[in-house]
Amino acid sequence: MDTKEFVLILDFGGQYNQLIARRVREENVYCEVHPYTTPFEKIKEMSPSAVIFTGGPNSVYDEGSPKCDVRIFEMGVPVLGICYGAQLMAYMLGGKVENAANREYGKIEIDYKDSPFYKDVTKHNICWMSHNDYISKLPEGFTVTGTTNNCPSASFENAGKALYGIQFHLEVNHTNEGSKMIHNFLYEICKFKGNWNMANFVESQINYLKEKIGDRKALCALSGGVDSSVCAVLMHKAIGKNLTCIFVDHGLLRKGEAESVEKMFTEQYDINFVKVDVKDQFLSKLKGVTEPEKKRKIIGEEFIRVFEKEAKKIGTVDYLVQGTIYPDVIESGLGDAAVIKSHHNVGGLPDHVDFKEIIEPLRLLFKDEVRRAGIELGMPEDMVWRQPFPGPGLGIRVIGEVTEDKLDILRDADAIFREEIKNAALDRSINQYFAVITDMKSVGVMGDMRTYEYTIALRAVTTTDFMTADWAKIPYEVLDKVANRIINEVAHVNRICYDITSKPPATIEWE
Ligand code: XMP
Repeated sequence: MDTKEFVLILDFGGQYNQLIARRVREENVYCEVHPYTTPFEKIKEMSPSAVIFTGGPNSVYDEGSPKCDVRIFEMGVPVLGICYGAQLMAYMLGGKVENAANREYGKIEIDYKDSPFYKDVTKHNICWMSHNDYISKLPEGFTVTGTTNNCPSASFENAGKALYGIQFHLEVNHTNEGSKMIHNFLYEICKFKGNWNMANFVESQINYLKEKIGDRKALCALSGGVDSSVCAVLMHKAIGKNLTCIFVDHGLLRKGEAESVEKMFTEQYDINFVKVDVKDQFLSKLKGVTEPEKKRKIIGEEFIRVFEKEAKKIGTVDYLVQGTIYPDVIESGLGDAAVIKSHHNVGGLPDHVDFKEIIEPLRLLFKDEVRRAGIELGMPEDMVWRQPFPGPGLGIRVIGEVTEDKLDILRDADAIFREEIKNAALDRSINQYFAVITDMKSVGVMGDMRTYEYTIALRAVTTTDFMTADWAKIPYEVLDKVANRIINEVAHVNRICYDITSKPPATIEWE
């Protein structure tokens, strides 16, 4: 990969940081998000061709608020500060930031002035604001390029030094023409050519892995989901038979999944494929455990143990390959953002790991980029377009204690839901859909008899990045059919609910 065009996004703890990264990559420019605490020496080593400061919840004048090394402004590369990042830039370069008498939140009218940053952007416009502080005085050498009623320096620049600041969030859709601004920053100001695409990512990644791993052996944790499947095929292209894929049937898979994964990898690819049946082991470890984070940790750790054991059988294995993707990395707490869930494929490794190193070839890709990588690798569409399935599997869709009985009920209900979504041709427009078995029983009546059985919840969301999501507006007829079929075909269920919460405030998975 040509790494010359590389945008470093310094994370000051804002909620939209991943969106900024996505916007940059959508413009075919490679970028990475790193915490603001990254030492300047390391930043210099990374040799970014531009830097973006994200927003963040703090006030720059508070003691202990996140700061950066002032030498970043002298690196001779364009710097764009967004919201807190803009205030920080102004503050560190000698400007003044104060608490605003009128905070701005939401869609705000703004007037832009002429600047390459606003090329082809409508001058009287709407932007998305979320701030309490404002820049009351700009540093020397800066000019105002945008104003709102309450914000005299809503945007500013020092064109000579290629330093740009905007108080608003250009990365969210509510800012009109925000993507034009990102485009302008990258192409008018940074003068990039835009050389980041999947074909060269895949090619360079294969070459890199070939060189790094050489004749050594690697084990790939294959779950059958999109990420680990793409990962396995990528690794297979790089090191062929030196890769062994281990597919753990932990008993937390969907109906028919273990069989279809095995079929796909053994029939379509000539991959060393080992299936390990450890259903009982997982179930006994999960016995009596109800706390979601504890369940996640147990499943994650058992996974690693199984690999250690299999690795020993195979002989010397140097690398463990995992299909971790970028949102997992960021959601598991890269910077200051709160940890919501510990994703089982990130961190949480037991102390005694027998591998030399963990390799995560997709660590820097967003979900849609992983799918595009799969297509680039020539993988079948139906495999690449599978909906995401979490590492801890049905373990986090059985609420409360995980038992064989609840798993069986869930598997049958989930299969019906998936089948009907496909029948209704909604499987591409709904990004994730599944059933959850709640830990609740309620009273019903069936054939004149009182029943006291489980409640199944249906969850379906539309989303582009899985960081935020809307509940899917599934037609009533489809929901009706699913509910009827589940009640009729699955024993021990007498009530079906449809989850109509978005993310936030809910998350996609229930645990
Ligand atoms: P949440 O529930 O956090 O889910 O809104 C966001 C997306 O991540 C998936 N997910 C996981 N994927 N390991 C994974 O590989 C995990 O531990 C995990 N937990 C959640 C979830 O299915 C959704 O697509």
